[in-house]
Amino acid sequence: MHHFDYINGALHAEHVPIAKIVAAVGTPVYVYSTATLVRHAQVFQAAFAQANPARTIMVCFAMKANSNRAVLATLAAQGIGADVVSEGEIRKALLAGIPAQQIVFSGVGKTDDELKFAVDAGIYQINVESEGELHRLAKIAAHMGKTMPIVLRVNPDVGAGGHEKITTGRDDNKFGVGFTEAKRLYTDAAQLPGVKIQGLAVHIGSQIFDLDPLAEAFTKLRGLAQELRDAGLPITHLDLGGGLGVPYEFDQTHPPEPAEYAQMVERVFAGFDVQLAFEPGRMIVGNAGVLITQVVDVKHRPNRRFIVVDAGMNDLMRPAMYEAFHHIQPVVQPVDGATLSAADVVGPVCESSDVFATDRMLPEAIEGDVYAILTAGAYGASMASSYNQRRLAPEVLVNGDEFATVRPRQSWDDLLGCDDMAAWQK
Ligand code: LLP
Repeated sequence: MHHFDYINGALHAEHVPIAKIVAAVGTPVYVYSTATLVRHAQVFQAAFAQANPARTIMVCFAMKANSNRAVLATLAAQGIGADVVSEGEIRKALLAGIPAQQIVFSGVGKTDDELKFAVDAGIYQINVESEGELHRLAKIAAHMGKTMPIVLRVNPDVGAGGHEKITTGRDDNKFGVGFTEAKRLYTDAAQLPGVKIQGLAVHIGSQIFDLDPLAEAFTKLRGLAQELRDAGLPITHLDLGGGLGVPYEFDQTHPPEPAEYAQMVERVFAGFDVQLAFEPGRMIVGNAGVLITQVVDVKHRPNRRFIVVDAGMNDLMRPAMYEAFHHIQPVVQPVDGATLSAADVVGPVCESSDVFATDRMLPEAIEGDVYAILTAGAYGASMASSYNQRRLAPEVLVNGDEFATVRPRQSWDDLLGCDDMAAWQK
């Protein structure tokens, strides 16, 4: 559910007309809805409170999905922490007011500097991905006179997700360690100074519509956790990752409700006393954001109509990268019975993959028309680049009838001043 609806024929974000934001900030612009963020945060937490009130859970928003400080602060106010994958994300989470003790650090390839930074910041937990990382971290933390709480990320060899490029849990993916290696590493970790091993982590993919692979991965995880417990090793924490899908196509079958997900989790872990952590990303922010763009040009070719907009693949990479579908609708509601015809909605970037939609049924378009690209809150702005020397788009947060620019459009100085010439060229 989201809060982007037509009111009297004009698309609004909550109570703010999109046209008002466009007049103030221009296009392209990302617009986020506070009410949607809050609702998703609450629905997720309530699902678990209902499925098992006795279980302590920790929800760490996967901030790679959206790393805007105002978005993070909105979630922090709902008691949500952060799942981070770099020093930059730790810094941003802290800046947004997320307590260090609500930050977990996942990800392949953490550098020594990043590990040091995380230990020093006193974050809650590091999700260790390999034997090498385990030993590097133990040495670093011991050297700093600290003991870092860790879990070991395992690869359950269960793949899932909306696209080949976002599946992470299969044996041939780079993430985590296999189960056999996990048993040996867990035993080793329990002996190492500098780390306190407290459990396991798993994350099998993203944009998941089917609970079965998740249940299969969690069941395998419980089995391994039980084996380790039986061997006398401590298991107090399990991190179940993220992955729940969101509907991009409105006529598509719907993803599982958080309540069904929570019930499945509680079925799998019934009678297993452990603290559970979750790292939802897309499910929290996907529907909470739209990308607003303006028509720059309309071109006709035999059998083809191109609507050229001022947002490009550098602003929203998902269609080019994953063939992702995003619903597109005019900000001025088409009149009933308006003639629709097929159009390709394309950006200005010099790549043939800079296409937001192909053969999409849309009304007549003219220069200056404004469109909303929906479900752009997750992996939109956070994956943007300045390819083609395009400035990063601004971000606006709406709350009821007010809005604020929470990231200004990148300035030309910021874009152009970040490189330099060699001394001998000047
Ligand atoms: N935890 C870990 C360790 C992850 O790698 C991810 C996502 C998440 C949590 C959050 O997953 P979510 O709940 O958002 O599905 N750029 C792609 C998605 C990449 C997901 C990467 N990892 C896209 O635009 O579809």
